[in-house]
Amino acid sequence: MRRLLVTGGAGFIGSNFVRMVLSEQPGCLVVNLDKLTYAGNLANLAEFLNHPNHKFVKGDICDGGLIEKIIGEHKTDTIVNFAAESHVDRSITEPKVFIDTNITGTLNLLEAARDKKLERFIQISTDEVYGALGPQGKFTEKTPLTPNSPYSASKAAADHLVKAFGHTWGVKYNITRCSNNYGPYQFPEKLIPLMINNALNDKELPVYGDGLYVRDWLYVYDHCTAVWKVLTEAPPGEVYNIGGCNEKTNLEVINLILDRLGKPQSLIKHVTDRPGHDRRYAIDANRIMTELDWRPSVSFEEGISRTIDWYLQSENWLGNVVSGDYQKYYESMYSER
Ligand code: NAD
Ligand code: DAU
Repeated sequence: MRRLLVTGGAGFIGSNFVRMVLSEQPGCLVVNLDKLTYAGNLANLAEFLNHPNHKFVKGDICDGGLIEKIIGEHKTDTIVNFAAESHVDRSITEPKVFIDTNITGTLNLLEAARDKKLERFIQISTDEVYGALGPQGKFTEKTPLTPNSPYSASKAAADHLVKAFGHTWGVKYNITRCSNNYGPYQFPEKLIPLMINNALNDKELPVYGDGLYVRDWLYVYDHCTAVWKVLTEAPPGEVYNIGGCNEKTNLEVINLILDRLGKPQSLIKHVTDRPGHDRRYAIDANRIMTELDWRPSVSFEEGISRTIDWYLQSENWLGNVVSGDYQKYYESMYSER
């Protein structure tokens, strides 16, 4: 029986991963350590909170003593580190917490993995560590790390630490670098859920700059299956890109959402651009496809329909998430753009 310590399991991707593991891997224990920041939400896992193979611990990955205690108590053999500050715009206004959680937090987890001789350490990284692309080419695992935002710089620093712990102390690790995810339970600060929520409320859709920035979108369940493949089948010390082979400009994504919701294009408002905005990301996912036989299973058109249906059916979840602090965040981020 695999015994996982999953960090950040109450966030968007982490909760989708915990749901997948508990639903599809009956022999697997999941200890879920999450600080429950603004982005962490136990409602994401409401139906699994009393599951016999799921133990939730509220806590911080910056607390090294707590991590050692959890590993000792639950005899976990693997860490899957989803916990992070994840939003680029917030890293531009308040970078410090990104350094604390994404770098110091990862360091603490690595020290525990080394000292407790864990079987595997899986670092959930991002394609943003590679920087930005022009109109041609894709990121491969050999592309040098040249991050541009405080968020991606903190994730790249964490990747370097993971490799250094492998090289210096033999920590058995894998790093995954995925492109943009979308799907159920995503916090509406990110492009797709923010645009769905605004369109549903007939509010303006704030498009940064010309809206021709390109992202490579992957349905969140497909990211989770890729992480599971790496966790169970990859040799240690290897890095895998994960992507949807699905490049879209932001305007293409937004127009598809408006179309599916039957809302007018007049809701679109071009606003001041993100400072240092990366123009294009595109992933070469050949390695994970050929070596681990992984494929995305959900097309973008299908994934967007499922996502919109989920937000339409999850009025209570969305209502709770966008009340209170979210209004203040929205005001501070968008009122003067
Ligand atoms: P998210 O912001 O939705 O969730 C992050 C979770 O981490 C939250 O539950 C939060 O409470 C928790 N957390 C934050 N600081 C913590 C701390 N100090 N200790 C314990 N828990 C803490 O993020 P997400 O979009 O689900 O991203 C998850 C991971 O995947 C991140 O590492 C991110 O860099 C990476 N990633 C995200 C995407 C994407 O498109 N969202 C793509 C590639 C990689
Ligand atoms: O590529 C993987 C990364 O994708 C992850 O590592 C990050 O955690 C995740 O947040 C995401 O980063 P992006 O910056 O690409 O995602 P975001 O949803 O913030 O923005 C997507 C694009 O949409 C980007 O070009 C900026 C633009 N945008 C975003 C928002 C929130 C807008 O035009 N308007 C907006 O209001």
